[in-house]
Formats: sequence, C-alpha cells, structure tokens
Amino acid sequence: MSEEQFIFHPDSEPIKDGKVTWRSPSNIALVKYWGKKANQIPANPSLSFTLNACATTTSLSYTQREHYADDFSFDLYFEGSQKEDFKPKINTFFKRIAPYVPFIKDVHLTIETSNSFPHSSGIASSASGMSALALCLMDIERQMDTTMTLDFFHRKASFLARLGSGSACRSIEGDLVHWGSHEDTVGSSDLYGIKYPYTVHEVFKNYHDTILLVDKGQKQVSSTVGHDLMHAHPFAQNRFDQAHENLTKLKTILVEGNLPEFVKIVESEALTLHAMMMTSLPYFILMKPNTLAIINKIWAFRESSNTNVCFTLDAGANVHVLYPQNEHKVVYQFIKDELVVYCENGQYLCDRIGFGAKKINS
Ligand code: DP6
Repeated sequence: MSEEQFIFHPDSEPIKDGKVTWRSPSNIALVKYWGKKANQIPANPSLSFTLNACATTTSLSYTQREHYADDFSFDLYFEGSQKEDFKPKINTFFKRIAPYVPFIKDVHLTIETSNSFPHSSGIASSASGMSALALCLMDIERQMDTTMTLDFFHRKASFLARLGSGSACRSIEGDLVHWGSHEDTVGSSDLYGIKYPYTVHEVFKNYHDTILLVDKGQKQVSSTVGHDLMHAHPFAQNRFDQAHENLTKLKTILVEGNLPEFVKIVESEALTLHAMMMTSLPYFILMKPNTLAIINKIWAFRESSNTNVCFTLDAGANVHVLYPQNEHKVVYQFIKDELVVYCENGQYLCDRIGFGAKKINS
C-alpha cells in the first residue's frame, strides 16, 4: 500500500459537529526503532508488545469553522488545563497529516487529553498520545465515509500516528505489533504497523511489564535528537542489519515459546540501543547507576531462581521488567523485595501486554 491510498476521498458525507473519545495504550519495543529517514520512515523494522495500563485518553470535539482558512484552529487541554507549550508539536503533526485528512482545516478542534500514568514519570507519552489523536481523527473520517473497512481504519490510524511519532504507529492494535519493511514478515510496511502475522506461543499471551521509575526527570536526549545521531553513526548499518536478523530469529522463538532465546534478543536489543547512544557524536549515557544495579540484580535472580525474567530499556534510565504470567508470583515478590529500592521515591508501574486502543463513549 502506498501513501496515495491514504488520501481522503472527497465524495463523502459533509462533516458535522461532534465529539469522539479514544483510549490508546503505550507500547514497549522488543526490537527497537532507532534511526529514521525523511517523512518518519524507520531506518529498520521494529516489534513491540502493546501495553494495557499505561494509556492516554483523548477527546476531540469538532465544530464547523465560520470561514475557511488555510491553517489549523484548535485548543489543547492536558489534564484539565490549557497547554500552550504542547501546541507546536500538534501543529507540526496537523501539517504533516493535512493531505490525508484535509477536513481538519474545516473545523475548530478542542483536544482534551490525559494520561493514566503520572506526567513526570519519565514515561514517554508520545506513542499513546499521538495514536489516541490519530484514532479520534479517523473516527471523524469514518463518520463521513461509512463504507470504510475496519482494516483500513486501523491501517490509516497507524499511518497517521506514525507521522506524529514513529512508535505511536505500534499502539493501535495488540498484542504484538510489527512496523517496518522486513522480508521475513508478510504484509510489513514502513508506512504503518501491523498486528504480528505469525503464531505466538501461549507463554507470551499474558506477559507482564513492571516499569521501574529510576529517573522521573525530563528526557536527557529527545527522540528527535537521538534518531538523528544515527545518520553519521559509524555502526548504523550493522545495527539496522541486526534488527532485521533479530526479527527473523524471533519468528521461531515466538512460535516455540523459547524463553531463554527470547530473553537474549530482548536484552541485547536494549543494550544495543544504549550502545548506539554511547558511541554516537555527541555521546550520551542514559543509564543511571540504579539502572545498572537493577540489571545486575535481574541477572543474578534469573540465574538463582531459574526464571525467565528479563529487562528492556527505552531511551532513558527507567527499566521495564518483563516476565511471563506463570512466573508472576515469584518475580513480583523479587521486584518488591529487591528492585523497588532503586526506584525514585519507590515508584513503579504494573503493566502487562494489552490488546490495543478502545473507543470510549463521549
Ligand atoms: C527508543 O517514536 O519517540 O522508544 O518518531 O521521533 O517520535 P519519533 O521517535 P519515538 O522513538 C522511540 C524510540 C524507542 C524505541 C522504540 O520504541 O522502538
């Protein structure tokens, strides 16, 4: 499918005033997206678990504008208060998506958004936030085009979300989502995320992700800057090739439920992401001493308990602790006894694999 297929058809119902609300989850990458080309095209394919508890709920109210103007008219409320500083990011998003949803220039939009997780938790809200907004816009489009299939609805929502934030295109559906062209993944595309198209073993069905908030501060490196560092990076091509290889290996691992091999790939992906940042110019160390302490504790516990607990990281110091449902009791006890001391103010979030975004009655 090419970009042209997502251009809006003008032969549809005229837009009416209304309001739509969507709740969209965050996601955690197993194979990381790090590096991109123009127009939010990823430098390598990625795969993620959709989360459940960490989510953004966004309501979008729309009313016809009195006079047509070639710009965007919108107000933005975050957790009840008007947020001027979020507006430039949304304006850039609207500019990018306007060719595909031109009706956004015909209406005044009121965006009301809130997160299920604390604002200053260091948890990126761009994936859940941009996907929730993309879904609201698609809901409006669907009201004007009643022939739209559910497949197209999901695909275009993912396509639009990608133009807001790359990882957001993996937050529309669940429970595993693949984004980016990959020769061993049928139907994969750089333009949108797809539900993972292969069989996945039962053991991955109820996977847990306990997010340890090691550093709740502002991100040290924005993802825009981070992705950019891959352009002149001496190891970039090897890294992109490695992501392709890891996805191919995961195909068998996911069917077989081979947890020891799963752990190796997931942890290696997290460490490679950080290694890329440590070896770029300028260079960054995004782990904190407590991140390392947690990783060492997880390794020691995995060895002694014979479990398959593992970690992954985003572009920051927080640690995502991943483990299957049948190990929940023992691993959760270990987290409480030995890992929570490393969290800022003892804070952590309990999440698990989820099934994608949901429409909420407005
Ligand atoms: C480390 O999706 O935040 O979380 O496209 O610039 O918005 P933009 O980047 P973003 O990058 C996420 C990077 C990552 C890995 C991942 O989620 O795959």
